[in-house]
Amino acid sequence: MKAFKLYPGITEYTEFADFARSASLGRDDLILTNEYIYNPVISDLNLGCQTVFQEKYGVGEPSDVMVDAILDELRSRKYNRIIAVGGGTIIDIAKVLAVAASGDKVDDLYEKMADLKKVHELIIVPTTCGTGSEVTNISIINRTTKGVKQGIVSTSMYADEAALIPGMLKTLPYGVFATSSIDAMIHAVESFLSPNACPVSEMFSKAALEMIIPDWKKAVEKGGKDAWKDDADRFLRASNYAGIAFGYAGCAAVHALSYPIGSVHHVPHGQSNQLMFADVMKKYQEKKPVGKLNDLEAILAPMLGCDPSEAMEKLYGLMDAVLKKDPLREHGVTEDELPVFSQNVLDTQQRLLNNNYVELSYDDILDIYRKAF
Ligand SMILES: [Fe+2]
Repeated sequence: MKAFKLYPGITEYTEFADFARSASLGRDDLILTNEYIYNPVISDLNLGCQTVFQEKYGVGEPSDVMVDAILDELRSRKYNRIIAVGGGTIIDIAKVLAVAASGDKVDDLYEKMADLKKVHELIIVPTTCGTGSEVTNISIINRTTKGVKQGIVSTSMYADEAALIPGMLKTLPYGVFATSSIDAMIHAVESFLSPNACPVSEMFSKAALEMIIPDWKKAVEKGGKDAWKDDADRFLRASNYAGIAFGYAGCAAVHALSYPIGSVHHVPHGQSNQLMFADVMKKYQEKKPVGKLNDLEAILAPMLGCDPSEAMEKLYGLMDAVLKKDPLREHGVTEDELPVFSQNVLDTQQRLLNNNYVELSYDDILDIYRKAF
């Protein structure tokens, strides 16, 4: 039996200052963030916290090189709590730092994954509305030596507290909002369809969709790049709920197939998921037209104002209005990469493929890539 358990405490504050006061942030705390987040919001609070700015150690999504460089920097420092303030990259790095003993390198953590212990208390403040990573126990690291993105997973990597602060989303550029909210929506769908879902996780998946879909519609109807900000608190909460759901039930083929595109062509995570989403769902529909997919269609239909049979097509259209989707080739993917990606997914992403709505073979995966190409 696998019991549903929520490990981190979840708190909500309006602004970062409210959180800082409540958590009594001070010089024994290490804030891991980006300078562009720290300077406008945290700097003036004069908290006296130690800081690490991730961008000084590498660009893009977390890699072994980046995390090892940060671990090297931290070896000489003394601090108790880690306060991660940022998007997926910051959060994934912070979860790794929280379980790294002095002397550990990223490769060591993969080797002793089953025995990882928490070394630092961890508080996570997400600044995008997508990853839900503040409530999961996994970090995805690009292992440059192996040419693959792989998860480090451990119960010790759960945050002690996930602090939701809508004020942190005020300056989020539209593109980041779009890709991160698409990621959250896909977390909700993949976790809902997962054979490992349970009634409690399904409730969180559904609640996330019930916030994201109507709020997307509202933002698209209003028009403009800032319309979504009226509902920033709901997008943040939806992302968190979707995180709770996939933290239990898992993500699946959409994420699995998007990883090679992200790691080889550096397409942002949420966007690479969007590139795969519709064609994975269509393959699901083709292989297993009767099943939980129909429950999903029934949930989506009233939100999208259509018949359940049209719900998925309507959803793809709405996603396209949030962020225009281009074929894979527009992102630099070449046709001869598709068989390589398909084999790579089968070889390295079984953790995700195990959560598929229906089993996908090599030929199915290649066909999905070809349709999206
Ligand atoms: Fe994701």
